[in-house]
Amino acid sequence: MPTAEPFPHRHLLGIEGLSAADLTRILDEAEPWVGFNRGARKADQRLAGLTQINAFFENSTRTLFSFEIAGKRLGAQVSNFHPAASSVRKGESLIDTALTLNAMCPDLLVIRHEAVGAAADVAAVMGCPVINAGDGRGEHPTQALLDALTIRRRFGRIAGLKVAICGDIRHSRVANSNMRSLPLLGAELRLVGPEALLPTSLPTGASAFTDLDEGVEGADVVMMLRIQRERMAPEIANSLGDYHGRYGLTSARLKRAAPHAIVMHPGPMNRGIEIDGDVADDRRRSVILDQVEHGVAVRMACLDLLTRQRRG
Ligand code: CP
Repeated sequence: MPTAEPFPHRHLLGIEGLSAADLTRILDEAEPWVGFNRGARKADQRLAGLTQINAFFENSTRTLFSFEIAGKRLGAQVSNFHPAASSVRKGESLIDTALTLNAMCPDLLVIRHEAVGAAADVAAVMGCPVINAGDGRGEHPTQALLDALTIRRRFGRIAGLKVAICGDIRHSRVANSNMRSLPLLGAELRLVGPEALLPTSLPTGASAFTDLDEGVEGADVVMMLRIQRERMAPEIANSLGDYHGRYGLTSARLKRAAPHAIVMHPGPMNRGIEIDGDVADDRRRSVILDQVEHGVAVRMACLDLLTRQRRG
């Protein structure tokens, strides 16, 4: 439940650096927003008078739109910075762009950028809290938080659950953030994929599988990831062969997981590659659209927590 304690972080740049208590606090604060968002009137004024800038240098549907909706539902003035229509196209650097936006006195900056560490670099020159909405293959902390909320709402807990993260883990910021958050919250982590797509080092306590059937055996949560060819060396992309045959989640393969297992995917999905359409659309097992719904609630909690001190 919400407490009056200040959140002990100025920015949200990654799961790295957060404690289990920090994560639980964000999840607890997100919980009431789920019900709020299902109501007819979705207007809260706690961020009234604050300016939120969303600066997405990479494409996004879920993250950009949910941050915009989250800010507006909390009463913030939300402006979206469009790099393609900006002076970035004239060669202005990321840091000069950040300094320029900072001079307009925003109260929050949400940034997605293709470079690992971009959000941290920008945070160093901003006078307001910064939220990392994805930095290259670095981190995507609000995705990990909405994933955790989705798991917790389904099972009532995260501790002790077997979570299989499957697919292109090496190039995934979603996996990077989940590999930090889920063990902190007590989950048992399995990483499943071709050798070339597994991380070079495993988080403590995690196990790795190159066979999808073995990796999902008895799992409570099966989290599928998109093949990220845009971040992949050509020799890796060329080595993947019949990816769907070896690593695509089919309904037959899902039968190996626990009978109550849920299927997750951060989106966007490549149907017929890492996940079959009938699995993705089976609302008894698939919580993919719940993840999207919970993304708004989690982002509302993050916007609220990070601006609480500014609001006095
Ligand atoms: N999960 C996610 O980050 O999706 P978008 O790229 O659509 O924001």
